[in-house]
Amino acid sequence: MEIRQITAGERTDTMFPLQAYAFGSSPWGDAERETYARRMVYYRTVTSLIAEEDGQTLAGVAAFPMRQNVRGVVHDMAGVASVSTHPSARRRGFVRQLMVRLMGQMREQGCAVSALYPFRPSFYGRLGYVGVPRVRTATFAPEGLSHLLRADLPGEVERFRLSEGFDEFNALTLRLLRERHGFSVYDETRTAEFRESPPLWVAIARVDGEVVGAVTYRIDQYGGDLVADDLLTTGPLGRALLLQFLARHVDQVTQIVLTIGSDEIPELWDTDLAVRTEGRVQFPGKCGPMVRLLSIDALNGLHAGAERDVSVEVVDDELLAGRYRISADAGTLTVEETKDEPQATLTCPGISALAYGVLDPVEVMTRGFGQVETPAVEALSALFPKKMPYLFADF
Ligand SMILES: CC(C)(COP(=O)(O)OP(=O)(O)OC[C@H]1O[C@@H](n2cnc3c(N)ncnc32)[C@H](O)[C@@H]1OP(=O)(O)O)[C@@H](O)C(=O)NCCC(=O)NCCS
Repeated sequence: MEIRQITAGERTDTMFPLQAYAFGSSPWGDAERETYARRMVYYRTVTSLIAEEDGQTLAGVAAFPMRQNVRGVVHDMAGVASVSTHPSARRRGFVRQLMVRLMGQMREQGCAVSALYPFRPSFYGRLGYVGVPRVRTATFAPEGLSHLLRADLPGEVERFRLSEGFDEFNALTLRLLRERHGFSVYDETRTAEFRESPPLWVAIARVDGEVVGAVTYRIDQYGGDLVADDLLTTGPLGRALLLQFLARHVDQVTQIVLTIGSDEIPELWDTDLAVRTEGRVQFPGKCGPMVRLLSIDALNGLHAGAERDVSVEVVDDELLAGRYRISADAGTLTVEETKDEPQATLTCPGISALAYGVLDPVEVMTRGFGQVETPAVEALSALFPKKMPYLFADF
């Protein structure tokens, strides 16, 4: 088996049959192949690797160049996707070898972190990834927001076709990339595809001309559902304006299905709001995303919870293994190599879970991601307070 990096143009004859078989309904027709080939113009910056044997492509993996906010620092991120193996070549270790190569290569290209949506988290857990929250959906009837309907809010909401409102929508995602922990976006090459995506509305909320929120959505039918994607806001006023806009669909749609981050509490949005909030996880197809550090340097500059220092050893990972002193000064983390005896031994999922704020040190131990001596539990909790990331981008 040989691993080869291919161009976007080569993906149609190599990766497409694997992906179409793995993820689509099949057999596929010429139309699907042509659509895929046309889309490859948006994949020019993707790193695609394939495993070949006797000229036949047996497995493939890819990484989108993306950016992600981790505790206030925007890192280059490898968004892993297109992972598939020919059924006759499965369980021969091809994807493991491709993933190891891809992670090393993406780190060389400057990516400090990586994220993906797994088909089964334990598969990627062995490659160093750890789970972060899945988005939730809030389902409610618009009349539940009747208080908001009458509220006089200082701002306005305008509705566009997404193709027309795209620049403002995209500018808001770039602002949230700077401001929101976990938020990630594609590069410009891939982002361009979303402007052309299937028809969607976008509602844009403004206060004094400044965009404070946006949500894309579609309406399936009169008396049916208004299905909205991620509720993107810069704060409570943006949220209230967008919810008020959605509430105005009372007597037009029966229910609103809205995608929200794990930190949203819909039952607090209005007094008489009957709402179902769900975060369903199921294999394959409905998993929370996973993340990992590709480089220990990713910790430098992150916003720290408090001033402490601790020495840790990261084990079982080619990219991160070593002994490090992690400290905080004036609210910012610093990491440097050390020869000190470690007060904590962490796997890649363990240190990644702390960096992303999804587990505290005791949970790191109970999940089997490391051992932390008692004094280091307090130090690591203080350095890395829990803080749930919101990934946004779906890939
Ligand atoms: C999932 C898939 C990509 C795995 O590819 P593969 O080449 O068979 O994987 P590998 O042989 O490299 O397996 C790597 C490891 O995962 C384990 N593994 C493989 N399939 C697994 C599964 N379904 N569940 C749990 N573990 C699995 C292997 O035993 C191996 O473990 P080890 O490294 O400890 O020995 C392949 O089965 C496939 O194409 N499935 C359909 C598409 C899909 O689900 N893609 C993933 C999208 S995120």
